[in-house]
Amino acid sequence: MAVFVKDKLFVLQTRNTSYAFFQDEEGILVHLYWGRKIADLQDFETVTMEGEQGFHPNIDKKREECSSYGMMRYKETSLKVTYADGVRDFRYRVKDWTAEGEHLKIVLEDICYPLRITLHYVVHEEEDIIEKWREAENLGQDNIQLEKIFSAEFTLPGEGYRSINCNGTWNDDFKPFEDTLCAGKKVYESLRGATAHVATPAFILHKNASEAAGEVYFGVLAYSGNFKVVAEQTPYDYLNVQIGISDTDFIWNLKGGERFITPCVYAGYSCRGLGGMSNLLHRFAHSCVMPQATKDKPLRVLYNSWEATTFDVECKKQMELAKKAAEAGAELFVVDDGWFGQRSSDHLGLGDWYVNPEKFPEGLKPLIDHVRALGMDFGIWIEPEMVNENSDLYRAHPDWIYRYQTREVLEGRNQYMLDLTNQKVIDFIIDFIDRLLSENEISYIKWDMNRALGECGCASLPPEEFKSIWLRHVQGFYTIIEELRRNHPDVEFEACASGGGRVDFGCMSRFDEFWTSDNTDPLDRLTIQETYSLLYPPKYMRAWITDAASNERRRVPLLFKAHCAMCGALGIGMNLNRINEADMELLKECVALYKELRPVVQFGRLTRLSTCRKGPVHALQYDKAGTAVLFVFLLLKERGKSIYNVKPANLEENARYRLTVDGKELIKSGAYLMYHGIDLQLEADFSSRCIRMDKVGSKDV
Ligand code: DGJ
Repeated sequence: MAVFVKDKLFVLQTRNTSYAFFQDEEGILVHLYWGRKIADLQDFETVTMEGEQGFHPNIDKKREECSSYGMMRYKETSLKVTYADGVRDFRYRVKDWTAEGEHLKIVLEDICYPLRITLHYVVHEEEDIIEKWREAENLGQDNIQLEKIFSAEFTLPGEGYRSINCNGTWNDDFKPFEDTLCAGKKVYESLRGATAHVATPAFILHKNASEAAGEVYFGVLAYSGNFKVVAEQTPYDYLNVQIGISDTDFIWNLKGGERFITPCVYAGYSCRGLGGMSNLLHRFAHSCVMPQATKDKPLRVLYNSWEATTFDVECKKQMELAKKAAEAGAELFVVDDGWFGQRSSDHLGLGDWYVNPEKFPEGLKPLIDHVRALGMDFGIWIEPEMVNENSDLYRAHPDWIYRYQTREVLEGRNQYMLDLTNQKVIDFIIDFIDRLLSENEISYIKWDMNRALGECGCASLPPEEFKSIWLRHVQGFYTIIEELRRNHPDVEFEACASGGGRVDFGCMSRFDEFWTSDNTDPLDRLTIQETYSLLYPPKYMRAWITDAASNERRRVPLLFKAHCAMCGALGIGMNLNRINEADMELLKECVALYKELRPVVQFGRLTRLSTCRKGPVHALQYDKAGTAVLFVFLLLKERGKSIYNVKPANLEENARYRLTVDGKELIKSGAYLMYHGIDLQLEADFSSRCIRMDKVGSKDV
């Protein structure tokens, strides 16, 4: 049992944590506790919350589970509604609650208007995660405007929390930021119509936690559109944290009899620092979020031709690349942007999803046959939500885009965004992808999205619905991908949005992997990957070995590049038509090694042994079933030092492990390896190592 209800007390118990709240004498749901497990429920029963009225309204002092705008609340609230007569507060009573298995539902109803808000809590006991979402139901006839309906609210006692999030842009994805929350509000938000690069839809809060120790509270939103995270340090000695669909420019008209369901939030508590948080989320992602049918399937090593050819895609050249890709050991050959319509640059062709007859005179078949004869599968790039002005699609349907009718339409990357609130557009997209997949032997799709949404108006909706377009677009996007997955269960789908603009738990349940960043410079990548890995699992982190960092800016050895890309789902993006023999040999070795290590990297536990943001040495470990894999990167060699000591983690002290270090085979105890560490001879900037440690007698992974 994971949900306990006694009188007005609600306690959610996971394996290692407790989450408790109660209904107070005024009928308000008030938070009591979140943290390390307190198994005895009786402990909570005696807890009372004191509140003196004074000059401040008591309600702001309450650590609410569902605060709503109005009454005498002046703090940030997680719900705001407007009834047809202009009344703008939700005064509730707890109407009912049910606890079925792991699922607790608490039904709140307005005391005089027909609005029901149900708070959902699902306890993932084994995974130590609590899932929360909300549902609104209009029980009457008149329209009710939902102006804000966040998915969840959390409160943490005290002050002085540190908050981690990102603040990136294209090519600079997952740029980490951390600061101490002082009085007032901290807001992370996307207003771009997608998750985008500017922040990640999550909260990570701690007080002096390190990688391996300390308390961390975290939550991730399973949503791929405009989101908002607000953390408000109240003057009442608690931090109020809210997360959900952004309320900036949002209104959902909830008509009589209709329901509205928010995306869910997966939240947790780790007393083992940031590393513990990542482990919990990665494990949960695998067991509960990733598509069940494909989550256990290892991702293939892919070759993607984008960096080699950009738009200059042409059958013969792709065939040559495919030959080399197969030689290197790739299992999947992917043709990126440029194969369709009149797509010779990013100015034209988007929307015209027919094979370009000049580039592929006999269609895709000869290339696909060639790729398959080489022993690889075939994959292809699409950007279904977009259209160029210079395209047959736009000429035929100029009213299929988002725009304000009275204004000139703005372009982003020279393209417009298709109106996914229009069923005809949805049908068009499903139809073209269905045909593409049915007529060709395609086993992988890279789904890209390269502009942000603006000008939220369209021809297919009345103006009073325009503020719902942000959300309707995401719903349309989800509808399409879900239908395609049902129709083509064997096809692997990658989510890309100018790199990592669609990395979120909403896409995770609908895709098999993320394109992490367009920045493939290995040094930049190490920080990008490290921050990505805080919340998102390595299996979903596509990483390519490319020709980046082989230029004036810096020259990084191929081995370092390969090791960096081997930390995720390996891909190759080099121009293999230009590769020299020695590099090809090294590439082959790395790909072959990766295939051996893949079960550990893609399905194992990740430990960030030392961050790439602090020291000269960055070390990561993946472990699973008696095998651990260490990746070590020397960023800058220090004067007078060439021996670097790295200490693995999570080994069994008394077990013995076999490993090869700088050409020498060693057998050492887990204790020796963890406490004494491994000495590595790293002689130059950008030296790197990949070391496999097998528990003696258990080599298979
Ligand atoms: C942006 C993606 O992130 C790239 O990998 C590539 O697919 C281009 N779009 C193609 O236009």
